[in-house]
Amino acid sequence: MIDQKAVEAAKKHFGTVVEQQLERVERLKKEGDWTDYSKVSPIIIGILGGDGIGPTISAEAQRVLEYLLRNEVKSGKVKFRVLEGLTIENRAAKMKAIPDDVLAEIKKCHVTLKGPTHTPEKGDGWPNIESANVAMRKELDLFANVRPVRVPKENIDWTFFRENTEDLYAVGSQGINVTADLAVDFRIITSQGSERIIAAAFAHAKRMGKKRVTAVTKANIIKTTDGKFLDTMQKIGKQYPDIEWDGWYIDIMTAKLLDKKRRNQFEVLVLPNLYGDILTDEAAELQGGVGTAGSANIGKQYAMFEAIHGSAPRMMKEGRDKFADPSSMVRASAMLLEHIGFPELGSKLNKALDVCGQYEKKVVLTGRDTGGTAKELGDYIMATVEDSTLESRWDGYVKAQG
Ligand code: IPM
Ligand code: MG
Repeated sequence: MIDQKAVEAAKKHFGTVVEQQLERVERLKKEGDWTDYSKVSPIIIGILGGDGIGPTISAEAQRVLEYLLRNEVKSGKVKFRVLEGLTIENRAAKMKAIPDDVLAEIKKCHVTLKGPTHTPEKGDGWPNIESANVAMRKELDLFANVRPVRVPKENIDWTFFRENTEDLYAVGSQGINVTADLAVDFRIITSQGSERIIAAAFAHAKRMGKKRVTAVTKANIIKTTDGKFLDTMQKIGKQYPDIEWDGWYIDIMTAKLLDKKRRNQFEVLVLPNLYGDILTDEAAELQGGVGTAGSANIGKQYAMFEAIHGSAPRMMKEGRDKFADPSSMVRASAMLLEHIGFPELGSKLNKALDVCGQYEKKVVLTGRDTGGTAKELGDYIMATVEDSTLESRWDGYVKAQG
């Protein structure tokens, strides 16, 4: 016997989801232009410490940023602002992914550097509020999650453009238990959402002189939504005749990232949200783990920079937070510098991270007292980044990588 009442309730719920998403499409059609940071003064950089190891590793990244931008702070071009309240305690007390007053403060900053925030899951003692990351990406419309992964000695230089506002994430907390036995979630892909992420990937490829953009979907099975993503790829690809594009399925792509003969042929990869979430963790592991990977969440108006990993509650519980590796947040800071118009500073910082973290390794972090602390690595990076020997040491690194 079919429960007709359940069917009606489900139809009504589906109607609401569809209406909300169509309203969103209308908003996307009216989207404004990219912020031109050369015209913004002061550029306000908000710092959000987050949970767990977040405050420790963000503090190091902030210290490095303040050092590199000291002249801009003096001249008034850049201002730092520490924002309180994006903690699991405060979010649980207000029962909000991002409390209203915190969101208002975030919106007064042009860009933010955000430490990892705890994402509640069933049974962990916290109320089941939405992830602060996901909420921030949606609230600020940070549609491009840009995640670079580089392993020079393997000749790997990938940049992932993960769509950040749609797919199963868009209405991840609006799924429905139609009956006790039937659960349904909704997957959202729009033309506008696909176009802007794919266009961003091609624009990046062109800017960086890359030859190929690769779309990753499962369009053979998920025909409607992934089909739209792939159709959009074809459409935007035509606008870039000098750049090749190809399409891969997510399952074989996870294998190809491990294929030493093939993987260095990929350059720029563009993919819907969940595939991007999964594939970028795999890619980061090849670079030395998620602790080494930074991530930019970019929208036309705002941008937020973060690590790709979580708040490491286990390290926290064992009192090991001071041994947490801040490299991910410092990498994110390099992306922040590039984004707001200081590409030379961003590049220096990336080189200092390569030299300190992958080559000389005078401070090695193990996550416990057998290795260095976040602060020691922060000091090491600061002593390296503007040192006159940086270039020659980095050349040494590149040569050693063969
Ligand atoms: C990431 C993380 C987040 C995500 C979590 C923490 C919500 O895994 O940034 O990749 O799923 O996007
Ligand atoms: Mg992830």
